Amino acid sequence: MPLAPTEQIWHNGKFIRWEDAKIHILSHVIHYGSGVFEGIRCYESAQGPAVFRLREHMQRLLDSGRIYRMESPYTLDALCNAALDLVRANKMSACYIRPVMFRGYGEVGVDPRACPIEVYMACWEWGKYLGDEGLAKGIDVCVSSWNRPSPNTLPQMAKSSANYMNSQLIRMEAKTNGYEEGIGLDHNGHLAEGSGENIFVVRKGTVITPPLSDAGLSGITRDSVLAICADLDIPVSEQPIPREMLYIADEVFFSGTAAEITPIRSVDRINIGGGARGPVAKRLQEEFFAITSGKKPDRHGWLSSAGLPTAVVR
Ligand SMILES: Cc1ncc(COP(=O)(O)O)c(C=O)c1O
Repeated sequence: MPLAPTEQIWHNGKFIRWEDAKIHILSHVIHYGSGVFEGIRCYESAQGPAVFRLREHMQRLLDSGRIYRMESPYTLDALCNAALDLVRANKMSACYIRPVMFRGYGEVGVDPRACPIEVYMACWEWGKYLGDEGLAKGIDVCVSSWNRPSPNTLPQMAKSSANYMNSQLIRMEAKTNGYEEGIGLDHNGHLAEGSGENIFVVRKGTVITPPLSDAGLSGITRDSVLAICADLDIPVSEQPIPREMLYIADEVFFSGTAAEITPIRSVDRINIGGGARGPVAKRLQEEFFAITSGKKPDRHGWLSSAGLPTAVVR
């Protein structure tokens, strides 16, 4: 889907115009993947634009940076305020927010520490990542021939730009072969995650998801799904999941900021359950969207209002 430009982008504490957000070709990140980023959704809620789990996303950005010895020049509070200012500056009612922190233009060489740390934040309108129909009917996915990175190679708890080279392999292979998305296994052959989503399996009434040690990102939607399951008295288990569990599951679904809660109706052309969205995924979706739309109380304090008038826009 083509990107629709918005007016303002936040750069190192100031707003600049969308078309002026450019970097030098010799910036470290271009050559060595030395960036960390976030993907955050702002929902149109009954109370105005509301950013979902903003602090948790910005904390993960700082954590990703810390793993790569990239200390953010901006505090958690400053980043959260910048995101809310950005939504207001662009007068968005709902959008996707993309903060990115990277090693900029300085030296060219593997050691990045002489290169300045740059932080940008942009937002734009974004629909359903895996399609409206996917949310209602479920999507067809495959198990990828590409694994997620092994432990102690590329850290999976960091949401780093470099990790998405692996994600690209998984996604391109899946789309080329006529699937909507691919599932990556970990180095032991256990389920890890999709190219941009965490994965859940439902079996005999229990919602099961791989532990964070099995090469998945510590997804914020994953955490929200686990919290909603607890609210609804649905049993959950975090445990290593063998590949074949997919084929005999009652339900399988993805979670993620982009994918939200997307049911999976088939894996490798084997129908899951009834080959359609299952009742647990439906229930979790309903609860999730009721909270994000403001129809149900924000009982976990997940929403940050971006509805107030903006202070300064340069
Ligand atoms: C590889 C990967 N796994 C999982 C997720 C889901 O994480 P979250 O729910 O925090 O968006 C994402 C999306 O950011 C992702 O890119």
